[in-house]
Amino acid sequence: MDVEEMKKGPLSDDPFAWFGRWFDHAMAHADEAHACVVSTVSEDGMPSSRVVYLKEWDERGFVFYTNLTSQKGQEALHTKGCAMNFFWRELREQVRIQGVLEQVSDAQADTYFASRERASQVGAWASNQSSALESRDALLKRVKEFEHRFEGKQVPRPPHWSGLRLVPTAIEFWRSGEHRLHDRFRFVRQDVTLSEWSVQRLNP
Ligand SMILES: Cc1cc2nc3c(=O)[nH]c(=O)nc-3n(C[C@H](O)[C@H](O)[C@H](O)COP(=O)(O)O)c2cc1C
Repeated sequence: MDVEEMKKGPLSDDPFAWFGRWFDHAMAHADEAHACVVSTVSEDGMPSSRVVYLKEWDERGFVFYTNLTSQKGQEALHTKGCAMNFFWRELREQVRIQGVLEQVSDAQADTYFASRERASQVGAWASNQSSALESRDALLKRVKEFEHRFEGKQVPRPPHWSGLRLVPTAIEFWRSGEHRLHDRFRFVRQDVTLSEWSVQRLNP
């Protein structure tokens, strides 16, 4: 799909429509296209990054699921600022998103949690993500304890496990060009409550 063509067409000022086209194409042609690097910021301004899977997205934003007591979970709840980066090696494409994180509704998190494999559901209870762990055996012991606790029952969603939605204020689409003359289009809006976006082509 040619970026110029997209810019001319009805998609021109809707970054979500662009994202949909690029993401669907990447899911069909790139490995693990839903894996992205998410960066959060500590209260003293130190950024940190890690890979997560994008699980849901719509015009409200881009959702991944995690443990809220983890480093990223805590930073999401306190400082909120976030950047998300997709790199699709096979396509030589990158999408960069910036904005603020918010927690998804309990109902949305419950629905997604219920769709996970039982072993992953138990794992979400057993892992105190990002806190020190004395040994792997200690973790496996906790897994056994929770298997026992939920034997014969549905595993409920742990209260500390939920989805975080990146509500964007900037989305940039980048495609590799010949001689490093890459195409870059950056969409911005002044505030997360606005539905109007402006778009600019950027120097590579
Ligand atoms: C391919 C891949 C996908 C991952 N997906 C997730 C995910 O969706 N949610 C999550 O909490 N951690 C995921 N992780 C683990 C995170 O990268 C990270 O190690 C963990 O969430 C702890 O991060 P934190 O201590 O910065 O909070 C994934 C790691 C990889 C390599």
